[in-house]
Amino acid sequence: MSTFPTERTAIITGAVSERGIGRATASYLAAQGWNIGIIDLDDALCKAAAKELAAEHGVKAFGAGANVSDEGSVRAAIDAIEAELPQIVALANVAGVSSPVPYLELDAAEWDRVLNINLNGVHYTTRRVAESMVKNRIGRIVNISSVSAQRGGGTFSKTPYSVAKAGVIGLTRATARELGEYDITVNAISPGPIDTDIMGGTLSEERKDELTKDLVVNRVGSTRDIAAAIAFLISEDAGYISGQTLNVDGGLYMH
Ligand SMILES: NC(=O)c1ccc[n+]([C@@H]2O[C@H](COP(=O)([O-])OP(=O)(O)OC[C@H]3O[C@@H](n4cnc5c(N)ncnc54)[C@H](O)[C@@H]3O)[C@@H](O)[C@H]2O)c1
Repeated sequence: MSTFPTERTAIITGAVSERGIGRATASYLAAQGWNIGIIDLDDALCKAAAKELAAEHGVKAFGAGANVSDEGSVRAAIDAIEAELPQIVALANVAGVSSPVPYLELDAAEWDRVLNINLNGVHYTTRRVAESMVKNRIGRIVNISSVSAQRGGGTFSKTPYSVAKAGVIGLTRATARELGEYDITVNAISPGPIDTDIMGGTLSEERKDELTKDLVVNRVGSTRDIAAAIAFLISEDAGYISGQTLNVDGGLYMH
């Protein structure tokens, strides 16, 4: 069993939006002593978020702007993070966009936008980070899918989102298989409705009540629910879990 180095870094994509899952995850992991690499669209906001985390938690943090759908910018951002921070042990692929367009109104540009960010983006970061993890022979990767993948939409976002998030589960399983021999685990988390702004803005109380009706627990999810699951899956003790999809969805999808 490979052990973690004492000084280690987790890279989180999509970690800038104030009420988002990525930001909450960065704080949660920093509180556990992880050094943090932040990737999001705006370089200055990434750097500001990193500064805040470092000051609050006494860890090292570095932010680098990149569009995850652009492989060149992803590679440059990860090169910069790797040069600044301790060994990259974990990657959380959180960046994503919603897409409420009905199937019959869909055009090629919307399809490509959503697939490029929500699926290709996960591949580009994984591919680059895997190169470092393979050399170090240790790594943990967590990809954010969605209950939309398993239920064929049914929430705010529609077909291309569902397709991309289903692709994330396939990517997770295939990379888990290929990278396992290097002590790298790859897992997905499939969130149900989480109280962020991605579903067309901040959720009203009425909307939360509506979303809760389909669940077996009595509330919509919090960003902390997802952050805690990510923290578990990237922990040293989770090394025997790989290729799995963990549903953190209030019981919305059972199989
Ligand atoms: N909130 C939910 O109910 C829910 C449910 C299932 C899955 N998810 C997934 O969780 C992840 C986080 O979503 P959230 O709810 O925190 O939303 P959010 O909009 O708050 O966060 C998304 C983050 O990704 C960043 N981002 C968007 N496009 C990017 C790009 N091309 N390159 C780099 N960064 C980019 C945004 O700037 C933002 O910081 C997404 O992948 C989303 O699909 C969310």
